[in-house]
Amino acid sequence: MTTSKGRYHIITFGCQMNKADSERMAGILEDMGFEWEIDPNNANLILYNTCSIRDNAEQKVYSYLGRQAKRKHEQPDLTLIVAGCVAQQEGESLLRRVPELDLVMGPQHANRLKDLLQQVFDGNQVVATDAVHIMEDITKPRRDSKVTSWVNVIYGCNERCTYCVVPNVRGVEQSRTPEAIRAEMEELGRQGYKEVTLLGQNIDAYGRDLPGATSEGRHLHTLTDLLYYVHDVPGIERIRFATSHPRYFTERLIKACAELPKVCEHFHIPFQSGDNEVLKRMSRGYTHEKYRRIIDTIRRYMPDASISADAIVGFPGETEEQFENTLKLVEEIGFDLVNTAAYSPRPLTPAAVWDEQLSEEVKSDRLQRLNHLINIKAYERSQRYHGRILSVLVEEQNTKDKAQVMGRTSGNRLTFFNGDITALQGKLVNVKITDIRAFSLTGEPVEVREVISV
Ligand code: SAH
Ligand code: SF4
Ligand code: F3S
Repeated sequence: MTTSKGRYHIITFGCQMNKADSERMAGILEDMGFEWEIDPNNANLILYNTCSIRDNAEQKVYSYLGRQAKRKHEQPDLTLIVAGCVAQQEGESLLRRVPELDLVMGPQHANRLKDLLQQVFDGNQVVATDAVHIMEDITKPRRDSKVTSWVNVIYGCNERCTYCVVPNVRGVEQSRTPEAIRAEMEELGRQGYKEVTLLGQNIDAYGRDLPGATSEGRHLHTLTDLLYYVHDVPGIERIRFATSHPRYFTERLIKACAELPKVCEHFHIPFQSGDNEVLKRMSRGYTHEKYRRIIDTIRRYMPDASISADAIVGFPGETEEQFENTLKLVEEIGFDLVNTAAYSPRPLTPAAVWDEQLSEEVKSDRLQRLNHLINIKAYERSQRYHGRILSVLVEEQNTKDKAQVMGRTSGNRLTFFNGDITALQGKLVNVKITDIRAFSLTGEPVEVREVISV
């Protein structure tokens, strides 16, 4: 192992899971004596934490990698690492494509970075993509925010949506124990963090792989039980969770969210399509009627809850009429936010080899039409906040206007107001909303709430 201090840079693509993994890997590197370097060109260890969800995410990685691989010829002590979902998907073949790489490691190996690097420093080129049980890791992550934080609760995904690479690259479901999750949250509370987002690709599956069942045969550990169990962690003021799957979403969970004051009234429940035939061919396991019932139930318990989702347009064989059913769902539900994407065929997924692939023109036309409607509806949804006083947890300075700070409402709307970040970071501030946009708000501070820890 090198004894001289190295300088590292991490570039992260993809979802919150990857962001959480990057923070953990940064923690491991700092523990080993590496220091963060803001300019990748001055770093002697570069780690790309990659995403493979759509082809354009994957291609981005190759173009970045090409540049650094060239640099390695002039600077042989440069260590190049590809981690994350492209690493898992491509494995050995990444080395053939970019022979300058030192380490290719799948997401399940993130906690093992130290061991793997030791092998690299011993002179090996290493590929770590075998399926392993993810070990609890006690190294402190280097977190990007001082206020909000991610906590993994379940890794992997056992679903088989026909368009999706995630089960191939993230492996089978593996829940962390409630005790380990609570311990991490308690540590975050002690460090001054105010908000925790519990993470899982299909978070409603939490606990089904853990031993134990109640006398009614229900799993002993469900997401609902977990929320009750971690709710009183001192210092943590807000709890969020993502991503929810409509197939497993229960009324019991909705009740818990309504009952527990720290759980934010924000639900991220992807619907993917508003058409039953398409949903079936995606293997999603629910109908649009079931999806609507979930939203109705949420709104019955929490009329003001904010609802966000993901949707795909141009799935193989999707007709104009079927696409219009997606528009109809968006029109009728009124989402606060929807992340949209044109279908992208992915390696080793069933839908990628189906005959009825749609042209890029059709896909991008549908994407535009859907996004247009989503904007209109989100703007309509924002109207309800005008003139109201909302509680905003302050995160950062507004990078575009230094006189302002930026935070989020419980419903996850970005909110800006005039204030000094050094005084307000991590504070809950009551803000009167004066200006609304589709996805963000501006207001005036009314009162800084003294946070009373439980
Ligand atoms: N686990 C979550 C989503 C994970 S992936 C769920 O079940 O909803 C994040 C989003 O990427 C998905 O919700 C989907 O909208 C999109 N996505 C996944 N695979 C895709 C593909 N092949 N083409 C386009 N979008 C895709
Ligand atoms: Fe992919 Fe479906 Fe699993 Fe979500 S639930 S990660 S879309 S396979
Ligand atoms: Fe991408 Fe992997 Fe997340 S494919 S979306 S980084 S699970």
